[in-house]
Amino acid sequence: MKKVIVSAVVGLAVVAGSAMAADGAGIFKSKGCGACHKPTAKSVGPSLKDIAAAYKGKEAELIKFLRGEAKPIMDPAKFGIMKSQLAKTKALSDAELKALADFMLNH
Ligand code: HEC
Repeated sequence: MKKVIVSAVVGLAVVAGSAMAADGAGIFKSKGCGACHKPTAKSVGPSLKDIAAAYKGKEAELIKFLRGEAKPIMDPAKFGIMKSQLAKTKALSDAELKALADFMLNH
């Protein structure tokens, strides 16, 4: 009986957690962004560190970019590779986009 109660409580906590605060790191991971964006080293795309530097104090612009409403400021010549990824971020809610932008800016 005790076991049942514990798992019910854990289940509720998970549901409440995802409804309250979107997890930027989790979104970044689940959408596969890390395949091209490494923490500090440039790979296919700019590193998270470089993205954070380029968008310092410009969270609104970063969110616009992820919505497909702003032009790339970092590496426009390679935007073709990034462009197809925006289909994933455009589908996110405002709260999820904010969490994702926060994660990238505070990396
Ligand atoms: C297939 C590789 C690839 C994947 C996967 C990828 N990106 Fe990119 N990304 C790039 C490349 C290449 C650039 C450089 C072109 C550019 O600046 O738009 C870039 C640039 C960016 C930039 C800088 C935009 C600017 O102003 O220039 C951001 C922010 C970004 N990516 C976020 C993301 C997020 C969030 C995800 C996951 C949903 C993601 N990327 C997935 C390749 C990728």
